[in-house]
Amino acid sequence: MSTVDHPRFSAVWSWLMRREPAALAHGRRLLLDGARGRVLEVGAGTGANFAHYGAGVTEVVAVEPEPSLRAQAAAAAGRAAAGAGPRITVADGTFDALPPVARGPFDVVVCSLVLCTVPDLDSALRTAHAALRPGGELRYYEHVAADGPLGALQRAVDATFWPRAFGGCHTHRDTVGAIERAGFARVRHRDVRAVPAWVPLPVAPMALGVARRPDAAQRSR
Ligand SMILES: C[S@@+](CC[C@H](N)C(=O)[O-])C[C@H]1O[C@@H](n2cnc3c(N)ncnc32)[C@H](O)[C@@H]1O
Repeated sequence: MSTVDHPRFSAVWSWLMRREPAALAHGRRLLLDGARGRVLEVGAGTGANFAHYGAGVTEVVAVEPEPSLRAQAAAAAGRAAAGAGPRITVADGTFDALPPVARGPFDVVVCSLVLCTVPDLDSALRTAHAALRPGGELRYYEHVAADGPLGALQRAVDATFWPRAFGGCHTHRDTVGAIERAGFARVRHRDVRAVPAWVPLPVAPMALGVARRPDAAQRSR
């Protein structure tokens, strides 16, 4: 079923995740802090989030299209289950082709460092919205578009080498705007930086937050 095959990027990403910067791991803890119930994580990579699911999470369905990353995610799921973590099922698929095990409704959908890569951001967010129960949460930790000179640099790298070099990643995406366009209501949001402000790294500006699929009562207000 998998339609994503980026062996070189997968090797680089696995290498990076084995040496994950402390700031990124801290962001993952904040991302998942207080998450509860049944969780769908799409584009789970090596399973770097799995160790951060807390006691309130009853089940995680983790979807990952890239074969070598999926194998590493399955190993991470085993380690989580051997500890005090929740049961995690790892399956092949994408936002466009979720496997049957990813049938909703979920209490939480987790997107970390994946919305930069999906071919159609709005469509992926519609899928996330549909997978959630009314009142359910989208938890996101994504690098996002900047203004000014860094924004210009992002547009330049996106138009040239960046997506090919980094598994389809685009740096100049208005991901938070797209989350709102998809019908989510912002609950918590913070702008964070992967590196100090003076470093012109295209993936430096990041957004970390929780948005909610409104429930019926909220919609009718
Ligand atoms: C930069 S990695 C991030 C992995 C993980 N979410 C994390 O936080 O470490 C991007 C991931 O998105 C996956 N991916 C790429 N295209 C996708 C799609 N259309 N649907 C779901 N996942 C996708 C890649 O295989 C890869 O695992």
